[in-house]
Amino acid sequence: MVERFRKKAKVRTIAVASRKGGVGKTFSAINIACCAANGGPNGDLPKLKVLIVDADSQQNSTYYYLKHMGAQMAGQKVLLPPNPNCPMGNIYNISDIIAGNEYMEYPTEWENIFIIPSDGRIDQLNDIATGDIKGYDDNQLNKFSSMLFDDLIADVSDEYDLIVIDTPPSKTHASQGAIAASSDCLVVANPDAFCASNAVPGTIADIQMNNSTFRNEDNQTNIIGILINKVSSLRPTSHEKDHIRKIRSQFPEFFSPNLVMCNYVAFNTEIPQKPGHFEWYKHPQAKEQMESFYNYISDKVLSDIYAEAK
Ligand SMILES: Nc1ncnc2c1ncn2[C@@H]1O[C@H](COP(=O)(O)OP(=O)(O)O)[C@@H](O)[C@H]1O
Ligand SMILES: [Mg+2]
Repeated sequence: MVERFRKKAKVRTIAVASRKGGVGKTFSAINIACCAANGGPNGDLPKLKVLIVDADSQQNSTYYYLKHMGAQMAGQKVLLPPNPNCPMGNIYNISDIIAGNEYMEYPTEWENIFIIPSDGRIDQLNDIATGDIKGYDDNQLNKFSSMLFDDLIADVSDEYDLIVIDTPPSKTHASQGAIAASSDCLVVANPDAFCASNAVPGTIADIQMNNSTFRNEDNQTNIIGILINKVSSLRPTSHEKDHIRKIRSQFPEFFSPNLVMCNYVAFNTEIPQKPGHFEWYKHPQAKEQMESFYNYISDKVLSDIYAEAK
């Protein structure tokens, strides 16, 4: 077993969020987790013990991390393999947390990374709105969801240095609950019209609404910043520039040149491909972008944890 070295610093939980699908939430979550667990993009930082929580019914992180263990695609669904740490045949996932069942993290190919996978049913949190718990309004359901994630984080907080939650697109109770329970949130966007006018302002409004509804003044979910992902090149097109400018002018405080990533950084979600092997290293600019991205995240979120580890 990997020992978690952190003793005093509070576990940090990063929710990766966007109301839009396909922008690179899973990509960012995977890369933050893999960088943290591997000692940063260059391997010269302390190796953190990381838990990934897949809160997305699309199960992309789940498939990525559990494929080698036999996770299989069946139509649109990823069938979970048995958890090797659990009694025969048992699988434990995010739905167990919702149901209040026992659960157990899965190990992954990475010694330092564990995952609570998604079985594709987390959206049932939404069905509760129209089903069993009639009469509950959105706020109460978000609160219910955030309490589930709070409980989960409290349960595992002594075990990990960092928790990364991959959230679903759109405004589901699962994403609201994950955001509300996280210490930090990374907003992911693409340089397009929908992100500039809808997804980014909507996601930031969600975080602020969660802060004012569920959290105290001194315990707010911190917005790490807005990652502008999948820019066509280091010289954005004039359309992209317009959208980036629009995002920046609305939220200058969450904008940084270190939070810009081009669309050649990954070839597909299967990155990094193997433990300790980062596919994006093949592109020199990709490596630089991943370094400044991770350094930015670790400055904002992990400095206490790294300081304590040294
Ligand atoms: N910077 C990037 N460079 C290349 N491909 C990327 C990049 N970011 C994301 N992708 C690819 O775009 C697709 C959608 O990304 P994903 O992370 O699954 O989005 P989301 O989780 O927001 O729905 C995936 O195939 C992913 O590999
Ligand atoms: Mg995803």
